[in-house]
Amino acid sequence: MSHSPHNDIGEKSVIDSELAPPQQQLSLLSQYLKTQDYDNANGIATSLSQEFPNHPVAWRALADLYRREGRSWNALGAQRKLLELQPNNAETHFNLALLYRDLGLDNEELSAYFQTLLLDPDFDQAYVAIGQKIRKFRFRSCQPSLYPILDKLIAAGKYVRPSNVAKAVLSLLSHDPLLRRLLAQPDEIEGAESFQVAVRGISRFPLLHTLMKSCAIPDLRFEALFSRMRRVALVHLSELEPSRELLDFLSALAMHCFTNDYLYPERDDEAALVAELQETVCSPIDGSEAADLAALLCLATYRPIHQLLQASALTALDTVPELRQRIFAEPLIERALTTEIPSLGVITDATSIKVRKQYENNPYPRWVRACVRADPVAADAVFKQSALKFRSGCPLNLANPEILIAGCGTGQHAIESAATWRGSKVLAVDISLASLSYAQRKTNELNQENIDFLHADILDLRSLNRDFDIVECVGVLHHMRDPSAGLQALIDLMKPGGLIKVGLYSEIARSQITRSRRKASRLGAEPTDSQIREYRRALLDSGGKELETLCEWSDFFNLSEWRDLIFHVQEHQFSLPLIDRLLKDSKIRFCGFENPSLIEKFKHFHGDNSNIYDLGAWLAVEKHDQNLFAGMYQFWCQKI
Ligand SMILES: C[S@@+](CC[C@H](N)C(=O)[O-])C[C@H]1O[C@@H](n2cnc3c(N)ncnc32)[C@H](O)[C@@H]1O
Repeated sequence: MSHSPHNDIGEKSVIDSELAPPQQQLSLLSQYLKTQDYDNANGIATSLSQEFPNHPVAWRALADLYRREGRSWNALGAQRKLLELQPNNAETHFNLALLYRDLGLDNEELSAYFQTLLLDPDFDQAYVAIGQKIRKFRFRSCQPSLYPILDKLIAAGKYVRPSNVAKAVLSLLSHDPLLRRLLAQPDEIEGAESFQVAVRGISRFPLLHTLMKSCAIPDLRFEALFSRMRRVALVHLSELEPSRELLDFLSALAMHCFTNDYLYPERDDEAALVAELQETVCSPIDGSEAADLAALLCLATYRPIHQLLQASALTALDTVPELRQRIFAEPLIERALTTEIPSLGVITDATSIKVRKQYENNPYPRWVRACVRADPVAADAVFKQSALKFRSGCPLNLANPEILIAGCGTGQHAIESAATWRGSKVLAVDISLASLSYAQRKTNELNQENIDFLHADILDLRSLNRDFDIVECVGVLHHMRDPSAGLQALIDLMKPGGLIKVGLYSEIARSQITRSRRKASRLGAEPTDSQIREYRRALLDSGGKELETLCEWSDFFNLSEWRDLIFHVQEHQFSLPLIDRLLKDSKIRFCGFENPSLIEKFKHFHGDNSNIYDLGAWLAVEKHDQNLFAGMYQFWCQKI
């Protein structure tokens, strides 16, 4: 992506005040725009742009007017002229980005958003837009000026889910000469000295630290580097100088390993050294405090130390408060919260019991930050503007919707929904208490007051005697013995005309996963964490096509998600014809897929005037692009 920052805000304006249009003309233009008299506005803006070509007002008006008329290329011409006059105006760059978006010029669009933020680092909408845009984007060059922007994008907790942008951010970082060297030859880090050089190098990338603390790192080169550094730190611990950089790096790595559920492969000699280290750290140690801290942090890169240490050890972590909170205090808070979550009673369905056991051991997913909007929006307005085809005139209260999140897991989706929909009241249900207490802790931290959590099986929810305007159930029904029974239980809880969002696995998109699942089933029905880790290590060692395919799934980079992907105790898969039948049998009407990029692909395939509500037509697109629904079939329906 080409990129040329203009940081000199406040540069002298190129506008010559003597060449400014008369005030009367400007007022007239403004009046026409206000009263939406676009013909007259166009006339006056055109003549002003000819008479006073160095004044921005006419160009700004023309860009806006052309855009309204759908004349995007003309609008782009006017906007570029405006940019020549106002090169340091953030809003001008942002509006330019919107025009590039209209024209499908992705690289230029993204570049203009970054330019906006280089000029005004508080331009919120540009972060939101970048978050949506860079998900699939891969950088091709080193651009350090973007690091602080991406750091804020991830750390703010309101623009994106970090896991959604991790690959893009890593693609940028991997072009940095320093990191490129480390990534190319991690095995060159052999002893204390080369390790400390690497730590000092990495300390120059706060963005990488932020990412390590925020989500799994879905890239095998970074995984190889961090596994190597973890190992060298362990083997050479006594030789390391307890510098601030060392403590910061080990803290970030410990938080990272906690977040990926200690997924990294561990060699036999490491296991023995970790056992020794555990013995030393868990008994009183002589020596300097800093050395003790380095040992503790090193242990924390291998083991969940909240399970090993007494609460009194907390003081040893005083100088690393973020780590202390994340990997020591928070798990204890969750443990305490499990007793406070209300329950609908004992889970009795045999499959639900099996599934529950999996998610009690491996709550899904272990998220740190979400896309929690600071400014809720009205659901009725958003649904009206969307491509979803809902029947109106139903007794729904979308101005203050009652929302059920069924199978909420660790609460990321529920919290985002509660923060997104103005006036909403959310009930979030799951069978896993470990997941619910994680969700409750995050909800408390974020002061999200409009969510209640409930421990219950979807199959038992009818006894609630409540009805909801909106139900969302993503990634759950395919883990029930009979997904149609689960769906029916949810439909029974909906108001007439109520809306439901469903997310189901696609058989086509998961065909490779199915092959991997079959191979992995030799481990038995309920493999242990260490068996799962070992299985993955063997895959890494053997390389090949299967590994390449699995690396495309972000689930491959976190132990609980890896279990979910390949070793799930209960999984169904769907096809579009099967979904069509399921919806007809359940008496709900398909209202459309939510993701706009899918709709773009559909229109590209079938033409602009094609019917996006025809599941048969979608099947043709999916057969053509088998990964189309790798992120599940996620669609909305309405109760008939
Ligand atoms: C793959 S996770 C998805 C979590 C969340 N919906 C998301 O998208 O992040 C599936 C969740 O469904 C829950 N679940 C599975 N069967 C359930 C049932 N019968 N009733 C309630 N929750 C269930 C599991 O405990 C687990 O937390």
